[in-house]
Amino acid sequence: MNVLIVYASQFGSTRGIAEHLGEALRTRGVAVSVVSADAASQGNVEPFDAYVVGSAIHGARWLPAAREFVELDRQGPSRRGKLDGKHHDVRRLS
Ligand SMILES: Cc1cc2nc3c(=O)[nH]c(=O)nc-3n(C[C@H](O)[C@H](O)[C@H](O)COP(=O)(O)O)c2cc1C
Repeated sequence: MNVLIVYASQFGSTRGIAEHLGEALRTRGVAVSVVSADAASQGNVEPFDAYVVGSAIHGARWLPAAREFVELDRQGPSRRGKLDGKHHDVRRLS
């Protein structure tokens, strides 16, 4: 299984959590890529089976890059947007 961990971080703490989670999964034999939400939304990702996405919160909302990534996922299994062809059976883990 390949897992994509996507983060949106302004000051680095969310990125740190994403990297820590990636390391934890790798020690359990899971192939993991940790990428920024900007990069993920642009399709700069390897094919993956599932993803985890997290964001810093500003004004009670996720950062725009994280919201954009989730919106791309909501476009459906055909991935009509920039993520087209990058996903296989995407499922949320939480
Ligand atoms: C402008 C601004 C607005 C914030 N608004 C919220 C908020 O509405 N709710 C909250 O729980 N934290 C809020 N925070 C705290 C950030 O979510 C928190 O510092 C976060 O861990 C930063 O993550 P980062 O280091 O990945 O950027 C805000 C921080 C900033 C700078």
